[in-house]
Amino acid sequence: MTEAKIGIIGGSGLYQMEALQDIEEVQLETPFGSPSDAIIVGTLEGTQVAFLARHGRHHHLMPSELPFQANIHAMKQLGVEYLISASAVGSLKAEVKPLDMVVPDQFIDRTKNRVSTFFGDGIVAHIAFGDPVCPQLAQELATAVASLNLDQVTLHQGGTYVCMEGPAFSTKAESNLYRSWDATVIGMTNLPEAKLAREAEIAYATLALVTDYDCWHPDHDSVTVEMVIGNLRKNAINAQRVIQAVVKQLAQNPPASEAHSALQYAILTPLS
Ligand code: ADE
Repeated sequence: MTEAKIGIIGGSGLYQMEALQDIEEVQLETPFGSPSDAIIVGTLEGTQVAFLARHGRHHHLMPSELPFQANIHAMKQLGVEYLISASAVGSLKAEVKPLDMVVPDQFIDRTKNRVSTFFGDGIVAHIAFGDPVCPQLAQELATAVASLNLDQVTLHQGGTYVCMEGPAFSTKAESNLYRSWDATVIGMTNLPEAKLAREAEIAYATLALVTDYDCWHPDHDSVTVEMVIGNLRKNAINAQRVIQAVVKQLAQNPPASEAHSALQYAILTPLS
C-alpha cells in the first residue's frame, strides 16, 4: 500500500511538484466521491510525500465545486499526518505585498455553500477550532521560508485568512469590511480544508502566496485573473522551494501536534 506522512495540496498555479522523484499516480475512491485529481506520490528529499492539485491539474474545478471531503479523506487513506496547503491569496494590508508569503494562524468563514464536516448522519461531533492552524507545522513553514532568503519575498508569520465563496472576487465594500476586521489575506479554499483536516486528525497549515491587493487599494487596480496569473508563476517556483525545505525539516524532526488527537473529546454520540 502506498503511504506518505506528508501531504501537499497545491492551489492556483501549483499543479505539480517538479522535484518529486519515483512518482506514482494514485487514483483513490472515498465515501465522498473522487478527489480533485489523482494523487501524485513520490519522494522529495528522500521522503515520501503525496501531492494533490486542488483544482485538478488542468484547473477545471471552481472553489465551490471542490470535493473537499474526498480530498482530505484520500490524504488520510494514504496515512498523511502533516498537510501543507499552498494557496494563492489577495492582500488586505498595504504591508503585505504581491509575492510575499503569509503563514496565517486564523480564519474567518465567509463561505455559503460548502460541506466542511465529515459528521452528521447520526454521529454528532464538535471539534475544537479556536486555533485552526497547527502552530508547530506553521512554525516549520515559517522557518523554511526564513531559511531560503527568497528574492522580493517578505514573510508574514501569523495573520487572518478570510475564506470567501467566490467565484467572483469581492466588492470594494466587502474588501474594506474585511480590512476593518483586521484580516490579512483573502482566498476561496482553505477554511473547509482546515476544518476537515482537523476532524481527520491531520495537522494542517497554509502557505499563502500573495498575488494581488484585492480591490481596496487606491494605488492598485482591482484584482483580475490576469493580475493573479502574472504573479502565480513566480509564487509557484518559490512555493516549491519552501515545500522542499519544510519536507526536509519534517522528515528530520516531525513535531508533536494536538491535531493528531483532535477527536478525543469531540464526539457526542455514544459509538457503542
Ligand atoms: N485568490 C487570489 N487573489 C484573491 C482575491 N483577491 N480574492 C479571493 N481569492 C483570491
